[in-house]
Amino acid sequence: MSSEHPQQWSTNGLRVRTSGVSNSTAHITPLFPAQKLIKTHVLRSLETLQAAGITEVFTSALRSKEKQFFMNLGFKLHEELFLLAHNLDTPINFPTRPTRRVRRSDWDTILRLDNAAFSSFWQFDTSALAEALAATPRTRMRIDAPDIPLGFAITGRSGRMGFLQRLAVHPDYQRMGVGRSLVADALQWSHKRFVKELLVNTQTNNLGALSLYESMGFIQKRDGLAVLRWNGNS
Ligand SMILES: CC(C)(COP(=O)(O)OP(=O)(O)OC[C@H]1O[C@@H](n2cnc3c(N)ncnc32)[C@H](O)[C@@H]1OP(=O)(O)O)[C@@H](O)C(=O)NCCC(=O)NCCS
Repeated sequence: MSSEHPQQWSTNGLRVRTSGVSNSTAHITPLFPAQKLIKTHVLRSLETLQAAGITEVFTSALRSKEKQFFMNLGFKLHEELFLLAHNLDTPINFPTRPTRRVRRSDWDTILRLDNAAFSSFWQFDTSALAEALAATPRTRMRIDAPDIPLGFAITGRSGRMGFLQRLAVHPDYQRMGVGRSLVADALQWSHKRFVKELLVNTQTNNLGALSLYESMGFIQKRDGLAVLRWNGNS
């Protein structure tokens, strides 16, 4: 499969996205809870990917039942994540910095910011960005760009659940309050739209993000999430 032209499609209860970085890697997101996923269908998708030269498949961040489902198919733990929630009952800060809506013409800028802020495994390419924006029926993407772009956030909403999908501040401009202001914007938007819980996940070693979220009223959930990896060569 061509790495220059990542593709995405839905099949057998999964959304599948080929990597824009490696032509032997794909990412899958289950479209249903574990009890509605069918083992033989998912295995068929893996066989199809393998026949197309994909040898490595990563899941999206999974909750425990979905994690168990994929582990039973031979997936192994790649990384554990903390899941945090804000119940929007406690007082919420207001943004301290102006932001603006992200247009389609800003996507290259967003990807540059994203790639500067995240390590390679977590970096977005165009199709990952499109997938994040399409993950919920309502989405807000804001950029902090007084003159040069400093950071951005993507927040999604499905019914009364909110998801802080992405937050990135360029490494040269961190610790200046950009991240805190973008999170405040996400919280205010969620609150105004009657979201009852805003969720965010982060790597367990991302102490900066953890400290930011906890200082803004997010509380760690008991059960975290996990990204799993399937190796088609083993
Ligand atoms: C996490 C991130 C968004 C924070 O953005 P930022 O603009 O630097 O954050 P702020 O300046 O608003 O910091 C707010 C608070 O967060 C905490 N914090 C932020 N970065 C920190 C770090 N590296 N170490 C410890 N605490 C940190 C501090 O409590 C800080 O308050 P303080 O500066 O008054 O001490 C930024 O570091 C980033 O883009 N990291 C890479 C991508 C990422 O991890 N995104 C979040 C994934 S879930």
